[in-house]
Amino acid sequence: MKGIIFTEFLEMVESHFSVEVADQIIEQNDLDSKGAYTSVGNYDKQELIKLITSLSECVNLPVGVLLKEYGKYLLSHFLIYYPQFFQDLTTTFDFLDTIDRHVHVEVKKLYRDADLPNFQTKRLSSTKMQMFYHSSNPFALLAEGLIEGAANHFGENIHVNSDISENHQVATFNLTLVD
Ligand code: HEM
Repeated sequence: MKGIIFTEFLEMVESHFSVEVADQIIEQNDLDSKGAYTSVGNYDKQELIKLITSLSECVNLPVGVLLKEYGKYLLSHFLIYYPQFFQDLTTTFDFLDTIDRHVHVEVKKLYRDADLPNFQTKRLSSTKMQMFYHSSNPFALLAEGLIEGAANHFGENIHVNSDISENHQVATFNLTLVD
């Protein structure tokens, strides 16, 4: 998993909780990286799972809540690092349609070793869309947070009803634009 996912995660822990909490969750785990991530490096995704599990215990919040929160945080930072992917787009649905066929394709060109999920989208009406997630990683709730973060960015009220498999590697997100 790309380092940016780790560096941003630890930044979120520092800003939402504290530097001490970030240090503590690193120390609690026997990490090959020792928690020293660089954004362009590549690290074992199990390290993220360990860190988020420790964070959940440390701050007494469920892993799912933290993953979603992280998704929202990450999206707001993608806006800063990758503004080109948001240019000319004005709605959440239009943006989400570009993830699989454009954004992640470009990410893969940038980082050949990126391990990205597959998404399919289906427009049901002007206010309803489905997004299907398929991954070798158990990060369906991260995707849900990223979707919510995108809705915040576009200033839209999108209701997300998700159907997530037990291993969190497959999910259907039923999105409804509410006004
Ligand atoms: C500008 C927008 C985006 C950029 C630049 C971006 C980039 C990336 C990068 C660099 C990774 C790490 C790949 C790796 O670790 O090997 C990643 C993973 C991921 N992306 Fe995106 N992404 C964007 C938007 C989204 C959105 C909107 C969603 C959800 C709808 C999404 C869902 C995910 C998920 C769930 C992962 C974790 C890996 C997995 O589950 O298999 N991304 N993305």
